[in-house]
Amino acid sequence: MIYSSKKLFFFFLSYIMMISNYNTSGFLTATNSVGLNYGLLGDNLPSPANVLNLYKSIGITKIRIFDPNTEVLKALRGHRNIEVTVGVRDQDLAALAASEEAVKGWFVTNIEPYLADVNISFITVGNEVIPGPIGPQVLPVMQSLTNLVKSRNLPISISTVVAMSNLEKSYPPSTGKFTSQAREQLVPVLKLLSQTSTPILVNIYPYFPYASDPSNIRLDYATFNTEAIVVQDGPLGYSNMFDAIFDAFVWAMEKEGVKGLPMVVSETGWPSAGNGNLTTPDIAATYNRNFVKHIVSGKGTPKRPNKGFDGFLFATFNENQKPAGTEQNFGLYNPTGMKPIYKLF
Ligand SMILES: *[C@@H]1O[C@H](CO)[C@@H](O)[C@H](O)[C@H]1NC(C)=O
Ligand SMILES: *[C@@H]1O[C@H](CO)[C@@H](O)[C@H](O)[C@H]1NC(C)=O
Ligand SMILES: *[C@@H]1O[C@H](CO)[C@@H](O)[C@H](O)[C@H]1NC(C)=O
Repeated sequence: MIYSSKKLFFFFLSYIMMISNYNTSGFLTATNSVGLNYGLLGDNLPSPANVLNLYKSIGITKIRIFDPNTEVLKALRGHRNIEVTVGVRDQDLAALAASEEAVKGWFVTNIEPYLADVNISFITVGNEVIPGPIGPQVLPVMQSLTNLVKSRNLPISISTVVAMSNLEKSYPPSTGKFTSQAREQLVPVLKLLSQTSTPILVNIYPYFPYASDPSNIRLDYATFNTEAIVVQDGPLGYSNMFDAIFDAFVWAMEKEGVKGLPMVVSETGWPSAGNGNLTTPDIAATYNRNFVKHIVSGKGTPKRPNKGFDGFLFATFNENQKPAGTEQNFGLYNPTGMKPIYKLF
């Protein structure tokens, strides 16, 4: 989901082109940046080489892929200025959780061949599998991968991507609290991450709560389009729903004794079609534009003021093999001709 004035966008992103230096507390110290998710569930997508040219032309230096796709990883060879987050496929978790040897084999096959010339910064173990039936497989795989990169002294962070369904309560943010399943599956993961101040990756979509109750939730609150305080939560005032959800997660972590763990937003976005007047290119552009501003401002959230974090927009392309409706319309670009769906900047 991004733009039309290619030059302006390029200028803007180049200007904030950032190096993510985590200081010892794990918070980003340099300017924060926006990356793009690169989903591949389409039968009409451009070649990886063309997609990398697109990223280059718009100044994108962080991408996330959902599995260790060899075509994409091969195309990335030599593009070391692009930092890559690579996912372990959910369906591989059971086998990997069963033995540390299996994890080594996975690493040797899927990651090692690219270490010399691809900038792999994160490996994410599972995508939104916590909370859920295979949630317990995440921790052992993370532990094995963490041991492996540590023993080889590789600059790769090991984490997982979680959904906000881990929250039993999120409103107002200070009441944020995990579900009992999240307490079993997620909290041990958070404690492992805390040992190295490695960020937990979270997917935050204000679109979904908004779409479920559009008559009671302000659109400008859902799209970062007002400066007014809409939700007052004790001393903290919220003018956008994104921050409120983010902080609910922070509060929930604190209640489990997990303090100061950094978060990276691995996905956010707004569909440009599929649900009537709630999903127009205009609204999607507004949300995404404001999200980018929010991230690059580095101003953090009311509970973590001035603690910037990175964020990834979902997604680069509309993907025609996802479920019909809004799911197919989160892209910034039409695959055909790589045409932007709306002007992001
Ligand atoms: C790291 O950054 C955080 C957030 O800006 C700051 O509070 C902390 O003092 C910094 N730590 C060091 C060691 O610089
Ligand atoms: C990988 O990306 C990081 C962050 O952008 C950067 O600091 C580092 O220099 C890159 N690595 C290489 C080999 O270019
Ligand atoms: C969508 O249309 C309904 C019915 O006309 C209207 O009440 C609502 O405000 C519209 N919502 C948006 C976001 O335009």
